[in-house]
Amino acid sequence: MFSRKGFGFILMILTLSMLLAACGSSDDEGSGDTNGSDGGDGDSENSEAYTVATDNNFVPFEFLNEDTGEMEGFDMDLIRAIADEAGFEVNIESMKFDGVVTGMQSSRYDIGIAGMTITDERAETIDFSDPYYDAGLILAVQADEEEIQSEDDLAGKVVATRSGTTSETYLSENHPDAEVETFPGIVEAYMDLQAGRVDAVMYDVPNVQYYVNNDAKGELKTVGEVLQGEQYGIAFPKGSELVEDVNEALATLKENGTYDDIYEEWFGERPTES
Ligand code: ARG
Repeated sequence: MFSRKGFGFILMILTLSMLLAACGSSDDEGSGDTNGSDGGDGDSENSEAYTVATDNNFVPFEFLNEDTGEMEGFDMDLIRAIADEAGFEVNIESMKFDGVVTGMQSSRYDIGIAGMTITDERAETIDFSDPYYDAGLILAVQADEEEIQSEDDLAGKVVATRSGTTSETYLSENHPDAEVETFPGIVEAYMDLQAGRVDAVMYDVPNVQYYVNNDAKGELKTVGEVLQGEQYGIAFPKGSELVEDVNEALATLKENGTYDDIYEEWFGERPTES
């Protein structure tokens, strides 16, 4: 079809355009990677930088890698992938969970991601993305605990959880006869349980399971069923224009397998179709 010369010419054009494309995309990657502290707005082709509020310790969704100084976890990978897909940059700021909730209400941050359950009450003051993770609550006790087999055995027991979470609400609404102790960080609650200072901890299934299988292997176990199905959503100040873009990007990542890859990395298996 082509003469030798013509073919060579086409090859040359192809090579040139590939080279050009490579330059373009390495630029993109360079800016997409800045998830650290610098603002980085302005220069690179209209990609805005948004502040993302997250919790400082909620394995395996967000936690500090002490070697690198970077926040890691399922939520972190997900929000970075969403930002890449939607074409914006993120600056991650970690804080206490309550700070993420109030930071949305006061519009202090643009986005919040912290394993935050979508509730009607929160939805009055916060906007949520479409759900991105199915969770629920569960009880943890010491490995040799026999009296507490399920939530039916909580009367008169000391149950610890983290303040400002759905577990605190669940306990106060469903277990008025249990003595509820709330902690600013859940790890303190787990450690008190390991030390026998409290009888049980109630918290989000994925976090309890992760802690029980890793940090407290052999010392703690879960009991009873998953209580109250919950769904996590990405949070925004009320009226945020980002909700739609984030939902679109999330849908794309679910379709193209990126969401499943991230899920598998942190939970060891691909999500089951729901
Ligand atoms: N899902 C629960 C809630 O929204 C607990 C979330 C805790 N998240 C965290 N990053 N510590 O209330």
